[in-house]
Amino acid sequence: MKRNLVSIKDLSVEEIKGLFDLAEGFKLNRKTHEMSLRNKTLGLVFEKPSNRTRVSFEVGMSELGGNSVYLGYGEIELGKRESVKDAAKVLSRYLDVIVVRTFSHQRFIEFAQYSSVPVINGLTDLLHPCQGLSDIFTIKEKKGLKDTVVAFIGDGNNVVNSLLYGCSKFGVRLNLACPRGYEPDKGIIEDTKGTARFYDSVEGALKGADIVYTDVWTSMGKEKEREKRLKVFKAFQLNSRILRFAKKDVMVMHCLPAHRGEEITDDVLDGKHSIVVDQAENRLHVQKAILVKLMA
Ligand code: CP
Ligand code: NVA
Repeated sequence: MKRNLVSIKDLSVEEIKGLFDLAEGFKLNRKTHEMSLRNKTLGLVFEKPSNRTRVSFEVGMSELGGNSVYLGYGEIELGKRESVKDAAKVLSRYLDVIVVRTFSHQRFIEFAQYSSVPVINGLTDLLHPCQGLSDIFTIKEKKGLKDTVVAFIGDGNNVVNSLLYGCSKFGVRLNLACPRGYEPDKGIIEDTKGTARFYDSVEGALKGADIVYTDVWTSMGKEKEREKRLKVFKAFQLNSRILRFAKKDVMVMHCLPAHRGEEITDDVLDGKHSIVVDQAENRLHVQKAILVKLMA
């Protein structure tokens, strides 16, 4: 596997299948598998808050026999207290692998460029590859990947950008309903040509869907736009009325955290179609596989 995990785009289907095989094994033998990262230390440089990404990486590292150091916002202060370059060079003398969660994708790339140890993208404004890989793993586990139709409604953000790469690698169709001006990244749509089908209405996108996926309307860092977004996205809420347009046995995914009552209603998030907690659990198994493969 490549030295850094920047984007799903850089991984071959074979590499992803290898990750999934390993992750399945970790999931089956949660506490009894080999501790192959003994004496290794993971650093987590996080400029945005996190529950799932942080905790699953820290617990994953510990289950593999290693340690972790969390460096939250206000600690390293990339580009403020010291340059991204200096921080990356110095941290790689202490750590064996680093997860970076930041704002601009360019800042992540710069960090990875100057680090001499593997760097994992723990979310940027553009991409969330750990989420995307783990989502494909969940879709495979719950529905299989052949002929599965996924519908994504809402904001064309980092989560759906990575999902697009994941779906395109495995030929999974992705129906998209996003407000005009809030579609996924143009370059990524181009890269994954043929994967996304665009719909003007949520109902259209959901027709025949096996999985319906949504994410927050206001991502981290976009809080100033919240009021405007609440208006723009109003018709894109995932609620029980809308869900009826999908297949009867549709499953609902959300990367979490959810803004309940905005992009998704309580009854849908907590209801019988929801697989969001299983989806969140899979982050742990898949990221353990990523750690092991990157450090092999
Ligand atoms: N889905 C996800 O990445 O969650 P956190 O922001 O809590 O890490
Ligand atoms: N799109 C969300 C994902 C959080 C995991 C955000 O960037 O805030």
